[in-house]
Amino acid sequence: MAGPQSDAQIRLLLVEDMPQVAQYIRNLLDAQARIKLLEVVTDGATVVEQVREHQPDVLIVDALLQGKINGLQVAADLREQGMDLPIICLTVPQKPIAIGDGMGETRVLAMPFSGFDFMHLLEQMHNEHKALAPEAVSRVYAMFGAKGGVGTTTLAYNIGAALVAQGLTVALIDGSLQFGDLRGLLRVPEDTPSIVNLPTNRVQRADLQEVMYHDKSGVEVLFAPPRIELAEMVTVRDLERLISLMRKVYNVVIIDTATTVDDTLLAYLDASDEMIQVVTYEWPSLQRARAMTDTLNAINYPTARVRYLANRADSKGGMARDDVVKLLGRQPDFEVVSDGILVLDANNRGEPFITLGPKQHVSSDVVSIAKALARSMADEHRAAADNAARRAREAQQSMVEQ
Ligand SMILES: Nc1ncnc2c1ncn2[C@@H]1O[C@H](COP(=O)(O)OP(=O)(O)OP(=O)(O)O)[C@@H](O)[C@H]1O
Ligand SMILES: [Mg+2]
Repeated sequence: MAGPQSDAQIRLLLVEDMPQVAQYIRNLLDAQARIKLLEVVTDGATVVEQVREHQPDVLIVDALLQGKINGLQVAADLREQGMDLPIICLTVPQKPIAIGDGMGETRVLAMPFSGFDFMHLLEQMHNEHKALAPEAVSRVYAMFGAKGGVGTTTLAYNIGAALVAQGLTVALIDGSLQFGDLRGLLRVPEDTPSIVNLPTNRVQRADLQEVMYHDKSGVEVLFAPPRIELAEMVTVRDLERLISLMRKVYNVVIIDTATTVDDTLLAYLDASDEMIQVVTYEWPSLQRARAMTDTLNAINYPTARVRYLANRADSKGGMARDDVVKLLGRQPDFEVVSDGILVLDANNRGEPFITLGPKQHVSSDVVSIAKALARSMADEHRAAADNAARRAREAQQSMVEQ
């Protein structure tokens, strides 16, 4: 991949009833785009439920939690429920705690701690956990066309199909809630279930299974509501929870977003690891991409998480390379050539062009993108596994030396 590497998000749930400590941790995380604090839970008794709902990657719990159940009890309850996520227990040096058997990946961190210690432990536990669960590698991509009609939906579907061919499980979300494009593209019956058929709180895997449409390409599709007025039934909070769950179920989640900057789009961006902006080599499209990039900067969305995909890239319409770089700030990360005949034909049949015309240039461009994305996921996974193995060796070594 041409662009800078980015790592997937770490999603954190904090169980803390001391406002000062919660605030201290919030401040540490403010500077960390990679870590997302999902919620601060103050009542230990609700943690099992909250974990089920938010599906965090790591849980931090204060062992000195006041109230009916203390922090260690919270951790024990989670293990009893079969929840194996990494847990960090906070304590103070005056009250050392011992982690008993059967507590899985649970470690202690004594307060006060530095931002470095905190981040280091968090990353380490997350990486080790991921290395232990190979199927847990997942990436969420929000695909966005700054201008309508640049090919976002077509590419989202085809890249999805190409990722399936790479052996990954892929979900495609029709993120344009009012005017979902995928229903039309795949020509499914009107009564095909959609996002509004999901329960509004606590979506479970089984619910998801019932509404996902199994497309012939192997991509599983979550459709937008069948009618415009139903769109407002879907809240930002529903979307966050849903995508959170989908991360656990699929290797890749692709969101075909609408060309509007609103709360829904921000929720998609927040929930995704990378944004793929689709552009064409035309002034209006590049200029809008530029405006979008400025907006992203204003809301502190890290530039390292944005990829540019130039569609119909063989027609530059007289635009010089320099102009593109000037407008986007760099060369696009990916290019896909134009193929009016094949793309139109495939879209009219409701099948991916990569399977209808696998030998065409446009198809090999899309397959290369899928390979690059798959490779970067595999790299991340390998690095996590290596790290975990190295730490295990080091731990063993220090025991031998003692
Ligand atoms: N690489 C390509 N070569 C030729 N035609 C293409 C290519 N990519 C997309 N198209 C055509 O461009 C048109 C728009 O595609 P698509 O609906 O995927 O765009 P979009 O950005 O999702 O549009 P909207 O803004 O309506 O959501 C379609 O007719 C499609 O066939
Ligand atoms: Mg579209």
